[in-house]
Amino acid sequence: MQTPGDFDISRRGVMAGGAATVAAATIVPAGPATAQAKPPAPPTGKVAFTVNGTARELELDTRVSLLDALREHLHLTGTKKGCDHGQCGACTVIVDGRRINSCLTLAVMHDGDEIVTIEGLGTPDKMHAMQEAFVVHDGYQCGYCTPGQICSAVAVLDEIKAGIPSHVTADLTAAPQVTNMEIRERMSGNICRCGAYPNIVAAISEVAGVKA
Ligand code: FES
Ligand code: FES
Repeated sequence: MQTPGDFDISRRGVMAGGAATVAAATIVPAGPATAQAKPPAPPTGKVAFTVNGTARELELDTRVSLLDALREHLHLTGTKKGCDHGQCGACTVIVDGRRINSCLTLAVMHDGDEIVTIEGLGTPDKMHAMQEAFVVHDGYQCGYCTPGQICSAVAVLDEIKAGIPSHVTADLTAAPQVTNMEIRERMSGNICRCGAYPNIVAAISEVAGVKA
C-alpha cells in the first residue's frame, strides 16, 4: 500500500522528469544555421487588351484581378473598389459590350478584349449622356458607387434594346420595356450606400426617354 512518504518521492520524481524534458526541448542543436528557403516567384502572364480605345499590354502576376490591373497598373482609378467580392457593383466596367464586376475576374483572362471604364465614357468637358443625366438628377451623394452605376446603366439600356430578358415579367420571351421596375431590377447589383436610388432611376429613365 502507498504511504504519504512514497507519494512525496514519487511527486519529486515526476517534477524532476518534467524539468529534464523541458530542458531537452529547449536545447538548440549545434551546427551551421540553415538558409531560409526563398518562396517561389509568383507566376506571371502577358495580356494585351484595349482600354478606352487604347491598346495596352501588361505583364502581371496571374492572380491580379481586372480591377487591380486597371487601378494599380494602368492608373485608371475611376473604377472603384468597394467590397472586392462581387457584392456592391462599384467596380463595374464594360467588357465587349457587357457589364461585369472587374473584381471577380482575372486580368489575364481578357486578352484581346475591349474594355470601357468610366474614363472612356466621357470627360468633364464632354460627358456621356448618362453622366450628364446623373449630374442633372443628383444621382449620387458621396459618388463612390457612381462610376459603377453609370457603366452599369449604359449597359442596361443596351441590354433592354437588345431584348435581353430579365425576371421582371413572367413571360421571358416578351420584349423588355424600359420601366421603373425593369431599371430597378437590372440595376440591383449596384449598391448605393447613400441611397440615391430614386435619382439614379430618374437619370436612367431620362436617357432612355421614358418617365421614371
Ligand atoms: S468591388 Fe467589385 S462588386 Fe464590389
Ligand atoms: S452616392 Fe454614395 S454610395 Fe452611392
